[in-house]
Amino acid sequence: MLHTDQKLLLDYLDLVTGLDQSLPVLDLACGSGRNGLVLAQQGVPVVFADRSVADLDHIKRQLSENAWPGRTWQVDLEQPGSEPLAGLQFSAIIGFRYLHRPLFPALLNAVIPGGLVVYETFTTENRRFGHPNNLDFLLNPGELKTIFRDWQIVFYFEGDLQNPDRNMAQIVARKPGLDNTRRDD
Ligand SMILES: C[S@@+](CC[C@H](N)C(=O)[O-])C[C@H]1O[C@@H](n2cnc3c(N)ncnc32)[C@H](O)[C@@H]1O
Repeated sequence: MLHTDQKLLLDYLDLVTGLDQSLPVLDLACGSGRNGLVLAQQGVPVVFADRSVADLDHIKRQLSENAWPGRTWQVDLEQPGSEPLAGLQFSAIIGFRYLHRPLFPALLNAVIPGGLVVYETFTTENRRFGHPNNLDFLLNPGELKTIFRDWQIVFYFEGDLQNPDRNMAQIVARKPGLDNTRRDD
């Protein structure tokens, strides 16, 4: 089932599904997989990464039952001293409602030139509406745009959203380089 707060991904679905799919898309800290499964349903191979075995088992079942492309990856993305994304390559990375700042350098490297990032999470302004309160999990004003300053910004938003009320930063950014749009001819 689609959530009311999946608008960002749905708005840019064609851009992601239009990428060359010889490399998968990473759904970072995928939880129930609600975002990555939207892509898998469209035939896009997705790597679902999370530490939650229960969530990943549920995703695995859905992939198998529907013959959707993709696989699960049980990983602690925050293990001190580890660099889980180092050396990996994805056509795109999607990340929703998750922030671990030390991952960003490897995340930027893990997307191939011409690939995309679709990312949204809460900002410090969101504390007006409730959790999370920990500043480690909240983006500062302008922070997301700064992280992608060397990329082509396809879409950027920072502010209040409704249904449910929240304050988020959202970005769709393309890594400079080759055009990786799929060619069907
Ligand atoms: C708020 S949920 C968001 C899930 C999903 N992206 C979504 O938008 O529905 C945050 C997710 O981060 C995962 N997570 C938190 N810390 C993690 C870690 N150290 N390594 C891997 N996953 C982690 C949790 O298991 C949870 O599924």
